[in-house]
Amino acid sequence: MKIKNIELKSPYILAPMAGFSDVGFRALCSQFDCGLTTTEMVSAKGLFYGGEGSVALLAHEKTESPRAVQLFSNEPDVVEKVICDGFLDDFDIIDFNMGCPMPKIVKEGMGSALLKDPILASKIIKAAVKSTKKPVTVKFRIGYDLNHVVATDFAKMCEDSGASAVCVHGRTKTQLYTGNANWDIIGDVANAVKIPVFGNGDITTKQQAEKAIKDFGVKGVAVARGALGKPWIFSEFLGKNENINIPEVIFEHFRILEKYFPEKLVILHMRKHLGSYIKDVKGAKIFRHKIVTSQDKNEIFDLILQAFEKNT
Ligand SMILES: Cc1cc2nc3c(=O)[nH]c(=O)nc-3n(C[C@H](O)[C@H](O)[C@H](O)COP(=O)(O)O)c2cc1C
Repeated sequence: MKIKNIELKSPYILAPMAGFSDVGFRALCSQFDCGLTTTEMVSAKGLFYGGEGSVALLAHEKTESPRAVQLFSNEPDVVEKVICDGFLDDFDIIDFNMGCPMPKIVKEGMGSALLKDPILASKIIKAAVKSTKKPVTVKFRIGYDLNHVVATDFAKMCEDSGASAVCVHGRTKTQLYTGNANWDIIGDVANAVKIPVFGNGDITTKQQAEKAIKDFGVKGVAVARGALGKPWIFSEFLGKNENINIPEVIFEHFRILEKYFPEKLVILHMRKHLGSYIKDVKGAKIFRHKIVTSQDKNEIFDLILQAFEKNT
Protein backbone atom coordinates (compact mmCIF):
# COMPACT_ATOMS: atom_id res chain seq x y z
CA MET A 1 0.00 0.00 0.00
CA LYS A 2 1.04 3.59 -0.57
CA ILE A 3 0.83 6.92 1.22
CA LYS A 4 0.86 9.33 -1.72
CA ASN A 5 4.03 8.25 -3.61
CA ILE A 6 5.62 6.32 -0.73
CA GLU A 7 5.25 2.54 -0.86
CA LEU A 8 4.93 0.96 2.59
CA LYS A 9 6.53 -2.43 3.31
CA SER A 10 3.30 -3.67 4.88
CA PRO A 11 0.05 -2.27 6.33
CA TYR A 12 1.38 -2.75 9.87
CA ILE A 13 3.25 0.33 11.03
CA LEU A 14 4.97 1.54 14.18
CA ALA A 15 3.12 4.24 16.14
CA PRO A 16 5.44 6.81 17.72
CA MET A 17 6.39 6.55 21.37
CA ALA A 18 8.21 9.39 23.12
CA GLY A 19 11.15 8.02 25.09
CA PHE A 20 11.11 4.69 23.23
CA SER A 21 11.06 5.27 19.46
CA ASP A 22 14.82 5.75 19.26
CA VAL A 23 16.85 5.10 16.13
CA GLY A 24 17.82 1.60 17.31
CA PHE A 25 14.29 0.52 18.06
CA ARG A 26 12.95 1.93 14.80
CA ALA A 27 15.71 0.34 12.73
CA LEU A 28 14.97 -3.04 14.35
CA CYS A 29 11.24 -2.71 13.67
CA SER A 30 12.04 -1.87 10.06
CA GLN A 31 14.36 -4.88 9.83
CA PHE A 32 11.43 -6.98 11.05
CA ASP A 33 9.17 -5.86 8.18
CA CYS A 34 7.47 -2.88 9.85
CA GLY A 35 5.53 -1.08 7.10
CA LEU A 36 6.59 2.41 8.22
CA THR A 37 8.47 3.73 11.21
CA THR A 38 7.96 7.14 12.82
CA THR A 39 10.20 9.06 15.19
CA GLU A 40 8.84 10.09 18.52
CA MET A 41 7.26 13.54 18.43
CA VAL A 42 9.82 16.28 17.84
CA SER A 43 9.24 19.94 18.65
CA ALA A 44 9.19 22.03 15.47
CA LYS A 45 10.24 25.00 17.58
CA GLY A 46 13.09 22.97 19.08
CA LEU A 47 14.38 22.24 15.57
CA PHE A 48 13.89 25.86 14.53
CA TYR A 49 16.18 26.99 17.36
CA GLY A 50 18.62 24.13 16.71
CA GLY A 51 17.96 22.55 20.12
CA GLU A 52 20.36 19.61 20.57
CA GLY A 53 17.69 17.41 22.15
CA SER A 54 15.28 17.93 19.26
CA VAL A 55 17.94 17.47 16.56
CA ALA A 56 19.15 14.23 18.25
CA LEU A 57 15.66 12.75 17.82
CA LEU A 58 16.16 12.91 14.05
CA ALA A 59 18.93 10.28 14.14
CA HIS A 60 18.07 7.53 11.68
CA GLU A 61 19.61 4.55 9.91
CA LYS A 62 19.63 4.13 6.12
CA THR A 63 18.08 0.69 6.62
CA GLU A 64 15.10 2.29 8.37
CA SER A 65 12.87 2.59 5.36
CA PRO A 66 10.37 3.99 4.70
CA ARG A 67 10.58 6.41 7.63
CA ALA A 68 8.46 9.29 8.91
CA VAL A 69 9.26 12.09 11.30
CA GLN A 70 6.59 13.30 13.70
CA LEU A 71 6.44 17.00 14.58
CA PHE A 72 4.42 18.83 17.17
CA SER A 73 3.74 22.53 16.86
CA ASN A 74 1.20 25.31 17.20
CA GLU A 75 2.98 27.60 14.75
CA PRO A 76 2.42 27.14 11.00
CA ASP A 77 5.25 29.56 10.11
CA VAL A 78 7.74 27.60 12.22
CA VAL A 79 6.65 24.37 10.55
CA GLU A 80 7.18 25.95 7.15
CA LYS A 81 10.65 27.20 8.10
CA VAL A 82 11.75 23.85 9.55
CA ILE A 83 10.72 22.05 6.37
CA CYS A 84 12.20 24.65 4.00
CA ASP A 85 15.48 24.73 5.97
CA GLY A 86 15.95 21.03 5.18
CA PHE A 87 15.82 19.59 8.70
CA LEU A 88 13.48 16.82 7.56
CA ASP A 89 15.06 16.05 4.19
CA ASP A 90 16.12 12.53 5.22
CA PHE A 91 12.56 11.45 5.98
CA ASP A 92 10.00 10.13 3.51
CA ILE A 93 6.88 11.36 5.29
CA ILE A 94 6.13 14.27 7.65
CA ASP A 95 3.60 13.43 10.35
CA PHE A 96 1.90 15.78 12.80
CA ASN A 97 1.00 14.99 16.37
CA MET A 98 -2.52 16.18 17.15
CA GLY A 99 -3.27 13.67 19.88
CA CYS A 100 -0.69 14.01 22.64
CA PRO A 101 -2.55 14.38 25.97
CA MET A 102 0.43 15.52 28.09
CA PRO A 103 -0.49 18.68 30.06
CA LYS A 104 2.72 20.54 29.13
CA ILE A 105 1.93 20.03 25.43
CA VAL A 106 -1.83 20.64 25.64
CA LYS A 107 -1.57 23.85 27.65
CA GLU A 108 0.58 25.32 24.86
CA GLY A 109 -2.22 24.57 22.36
CA MET A 110 -0.38 21.63 20.78
CA GLY A 111 -1.07 17.87 20.57
CA SER A 112 -4.67 17.05 21.43
CA ALA A 113 -5.48 20.73 22.10
CA LEU A 114 -5.64 21.02 18.30
CA LEU A 115 -8.71 18.76 18.32
CA LYS A 116 -10.47 21.83 19.75
CA ASP A 117 -8.88 24.19 17.24
CA PRO A 118 -9.36 22.69 13.76
CA ILE A 119 -8.69 26.07 12.13
CA LEU A 120 -5.15 26.21 13.53
CA ALA A 121 -4.70 22.48 12.86
CA SER A 122 -5.64 23.08 9.23
CA LYS A 123 -3.18 25.99 8.97
CA ILE A 124 -0.38 23.77 10.28
CA ILE A 125 -1.16 21.01 7.76
CA LYS A 126 -1.45 23.50 4.89
CA ALA A 127 1.84 25.16 5.87
CA ALA A 128 3.57 21.77 5.65
CA VAL A 129 1.84 20.71 2.43
CA LYS A 130 2.84 23.90 0.61
CA SER A 131 6.46 23.52 1.78
CA THR A 132 7.14 19.96 0.62
CA LYS A 133 6.28 17.40 -2.04
CA LYS A 134 6.49 14.68 0.60
CA PRO A 135 3.32 13.17 2.03
CA VAL A 136 2.05 14.99 5.11
CA THR A 137 0.08 12.88 7.58
CA VAL A 138 -1.71 13.49 10.88
CA LYS A 139 -2.08 11.31 13.97
CA PHE A 140 -4.89 12.25 16.33
CA ARG A 141 -7.25 10.92 18.99
CA ILE A 142 -11.01 10.51 18.44
CA GLY A 143 -11.80 13.66 20.41
CA TYR A 144 -10.93 15.79 23.41
CA ASP A 145 -13.42 13.99 25.64
CA LEU A 146 -16.44 11.73 25.16
CA ASN A 147 -18.73 14.77 24.82
CA HIS A 148 -16.58 16.09 21.99
CA VAL A 149 -15.87 13.18 19.66
CA VAL A 150 -14.72 14.90 16.49
CA ALA A 151 -12.80 12.15 14.69
CA THR A 152 -14.77 12.15 11.43
CA ASP A 153 -14.88 15.94 11.02
CA PHE A 154 -11.24 16.22 12.01
CA ALA A 155 -10.22 13.60 9.44
CA LYS A 156 -12.19 15.45 6.75
CA MET A 157 -10.43 18.68 7.74
CA CYS A 158 -7.06 16.89 7.43
CA GLU A 159 -8.00 15.56 3.99
CA ASP A 160 -9.28 18.99 2.81
CA SER A 161 -6.07 20.61 4.09
CA GLY A 162 -3.95 18.31 1.94
CA ALA A 163 -2.99 15.46 4.29
CA SER A 164 -2.17 12.20 2.48
CA ALA A 165 -3.21 9.87 5.32
CA VAL A 166 -4.38 9.93 8.93
CA CYS A 167 -3.82 7.66 11.89
CA VAL A 168 -6.56 7.57 14.53
CA HIS A 169 -6.02 6.43 18.12
CA GLY A 170 -9.42 5.25 19.32
CA ARG A 171 -9.37 7.09 22.65
CA THR A 172 -10.10 10.66 23.71
CA LYS A 173 -7.56 12.99 25.27
CA THR A 174 -9.16 12.69 28.70
CA GLN A 175 -9.22 8.88 28.53
CA LEU A 176 -5.41 8.86 28.30
CA TYR A 177 -4.76 5.09 28.12
CA THR A 178 -7.77 3.86 30.12
CA GLY A 179 -10.57 1.68 28.79
CA ASN A 180 -10.47 0.22 25.30
CA ALA A 181 -9.81 1.96 22.02
CA ASN A 182 -13.13 2.60 20.25
CA TRP A 183 -12.71 0.87 16.89
CA ASP A 184 -16.27 1.68 15.76
CA ILE A 185 -15.34 5.35 15.64
CA ILE A 186 -12.11 4.50 13.80
CA GLY A 187 -14.29 2.58 11.32
CA ASP A 188 -16.54 5.66 10.86
CA VAL A 189 -13.45 7.70 9.98
CA ALA A 190 -12.30 5.07 7.47
CA ASN A 191 -15.70 5.36 5.76
CA ALA A 192 -15.73 9.14 5.78
CA VAL A 193 -12.54 10.01 3.88
CA LYS A 194 -10.77 8.86 0.71
CA ILE A 195 -7.21 9.11 2.03
CA PRO A 196 -5.81 6.01 3.77
CA VAL A 197 -6.81 5.70 7.43
CA PHE A 198 -4.65 3.79 9.90
CA GLY A 199 -6.33 2.53 13.05
CA ASN A 200 -4.52 2.52 16.36
CA GLY A 201 -5.15 1.19 19.84
CA ASP A 202 -4.71 -2.08 21.71
CA ILE A 203 -3.53 -4.23 18.80
CA THR A 204 -1.06 -6.89 19.89
CA THR A 205 -1.77 -9.99 17.79
CA LYS A 206 -1.85 -10.94 14.10
CA GLN A 207 -5.53 -11.93 14.45
CA GLN A 208 -6.49 -8.54 15.93
CA ALA A 209 -4.50 -6.70 13.26
CA GLU A 210 -6.14 -8.62 10.41
CA LYS A 211 -9.59 -8.26 11.97
CA ALA A 212 -9.11 -4.50 12.32
CA ILE A 213 -8.50 -4.16 8.59
CA LYS A 214 -11.30 -6.54 7.65
CA ASP A 215 -13.99 -5.31 10.04
CA PHE A 216 -13.30 -1.59 10.23
CA GLY A 217 -12.12 -0.73 6.73
CA VAL A 218 -8.81 0.80 7.76
CA LYS A 219 -5.95 0.51 5.27
CA GLY A 220 -3.47 -0.34 7.99
CA VAL A 221 -2.84 -0.66 11.70
CA ALA A 222 -0.39 1.26 13.88
CA VAL A 223 1.11 -0.54 16.86
CA ALA A 224 2.83 1.18 19.79
CA ARG A 225 3.00 -0.66 23.13
CA GLY A 226 2.68 -4.08 21.50
CA ALA A 227 6.05 -3.53 19.82
CA LEU A 228 7.91 -2.70 23.04
CA GLY A 229 10.37 -5.49 23.78
CA LYS A 230 9.10 -7.16 20.61
CA PRO A 231 10.17 -5.31 17.46
CA TRP A 232 9.61 -8.57 15.52
CA ILE A 233 5.84 -8.22 16.10
CA PHE A 234 5.59 -6.81 12.56
CA SER A 235 7.05 -10.00 11.04
CA GLU A 236 4.66 -12.02 13.19
CA PHE A 237 1.71 -10.08 11.77
CA LEU A 238 2.87 -11.14 8.31
CA GLY A 239 2.89 -14.77 9.42
CA LYS A 240 6.66 -15.06 9.58
CA ASN A 241 7.32 -17.09 12.69
CA GLU A 242 11.05 -16.66 12.61
CA ASN A 243 13.19 -18.07 15.38
CA ILE A 244 14.18 -14.89 17.12
CA ASN A 245 17.45 -14.76 19.03
CA ILE A 246 16.29 -12.18 21.56
CA PRO A 247 19.69 -11.44 23.16
CA GLU A 248 21.08 -10.80 19.65
CA VAL A 249 18.20 -8.35 18.95
CA ILE A 250 18.96 -6.54 22.22
CA PHE A 251 22.70 -6.38 21.46
CA GLU A 252 21.93 -4.98 18.00
CA HIS A 253 19.71 -2.36 19.65
CA PHE A 254 22.69 -1.32 21.81
CA ARG A 255 25.06 -1.36 18.81
CA ILE A 256 22.89 0.94 16.70
CA LEU A 257 22.39 3.44 19.53
CA GLU A 258 26.14 3.49 20.22
CA LYS A 259 26.74 4.78 16.70
CA TYR A 260 24.90 7.95 17.68
CA PHE A 261 25.16 8.40 21.45
CA PRO A 262 27.80 7.93 24.19
CA GLU A 263 27.82 4.51 25.92
CA LYS A 264 26.74 5.92 29.31
CA LEU A 265 23.65 7.48 27.77
CA VAL A 266 22.86 4.32 25.83
CA ILE A 267 23.00 2.21 29.00
CA LEU A 268 20.66 4.61 30.81
CA HIS A 269 18.25 4.71 27.89
CA MET A 270 18.30 0.95 27.25
CA ARG A 271 17.18 0.27 30.83
CA LYS A 272 13.68 1.30 29.74
CA HIS A 273 13.66 -1.11 26.81
CA LEU A 274 15.27 -3.97 28.74
CA GLY A 275 12.34 -4.13 31.15
CA SER A 276 10.11 -4.95 28.16
CA TYR A 277 12.56 -7.27 26.42
CA ILE A 278 12.96 -9.51 29.47
CA LYS A 279 9.45 -9.25 30.91
CA ASP A 280 8.55 -12.86 30.06
CA VAL A 281 11.73 -14.60 31.23
CA LYS A 282 11.73 -16.62 34.43
CA GLY A 283 12.94 -14.45 37.31
CA ALA A 284 12.38 -11.29 35.25
CA LYS A 285 12.04 -9.12 38.35
CA ILE A 286 15.42 -10.13 39.73
CA PHE A 287 17.16 -9.73 36.37
CA ARG A 288 15.51 -6.37 35.88
CA HIS A 289 16.75 -5.16 39.24
CA LYS A 290 20.31 -6.33 38.50
CA ILE A 291 20.28 -4.78 35.04
CA VAL A 292 18.93 -1.39 36.06
CA THR A 293 21.46 -1.08 38.86
CA SER A 294 24.45 -1.94 36.66
CA GLN A 295 26.52 0.74 34.92
CA ASP A 296 28.68 -1.81 33.10
CA LYS A 297 27.73 -2.84 29.58
CA ASN A 298 29.56 -6.19 29.67
CA GLU A 299 27.87 -7.08 32.94
CA ILE A 300 24.49 -6.10 31.45
CA PHE A 301 25.15 -8.26 28.37
CA ASP A 302 26.07 -11.22 30.63
CA LEU A 303 22.86 -10.75 32.62
CA ILE A 304 20.84 -10.69 29.39
CA LEU A 305 22.46 -13.94 28.22
CA GLN A 306 21.83 -15.54 31.62
CA ALA A 307 18.20 -14.39 31.62
CA PHE A 308 17.49 -16.03 28.27
CA GLU A 309 19.67 -19.13 28.87
CA LYS A 310 17.48 -20.04 31.82
CA ASN A 311 14.51 -20.09 29.51
CA THR A 312 15.92 -22.38 26.83
C1 LIG B 1 5.31 5.80 26.17
C2 LIG B 1 4.43 6.32 25.06
C3 LIG B 1 4.84 7.41 24.34
C4 LIG B 1 4.02 7.90 23.29
N1 LIG B 1 4.48 8.93 22.53
C5 LIG B 1 3.76 9.33 21.44
C6 LIG B 1 4.29 10.29 20.52
O1 LIG B 1 5.41 10.79 20.66
N2 LIG B 1 3.49 10.66 19.47
C7 LIG B 1 2.25 10.11 19.27
O2 LIG B 1 1.58 10.46 18.29
N3 LIG B 1 1.75 9.19 20.10
C8 LIG B 1 2.49 8.77 21.16
N4 LIG B 1 2.01 7.77 21.96
C9 LIG B 1 0.71 7.14 21.64
C10 LIG B 1 0.93 5.90 20.79
O3 LIG B 1 1.50 6.22 19.54
C11 LIG B 1 -0.39 5.16 20.55
O4 LIG B 1 -1.30 6.05 19.96
C12 LIG B 1 -1.02 4.61 21.83
O5 LIG B 1 -0.05 4.02 22.67
C13 LIG B 1 -2.10 3.55 21.51
O6 LIG B 1 -1.55 2.50 20.74
P1 LIG B 1 -1.18 1.06 21.39
O7 LIG B 1 -2.39 0.54 22.05
O8 LIG B 1 -0.71 0.22 20.21
O9 LIG B 1 -0.08 1.32 22.40
C14 LIG B 1 2.78 7.29 23.00
C15 LIG B 1 2.38 6.18 23.76
C16 LIG B 1 3.19 5.68 24.77
C17 LIG B 1 2.75 4.49 25.54
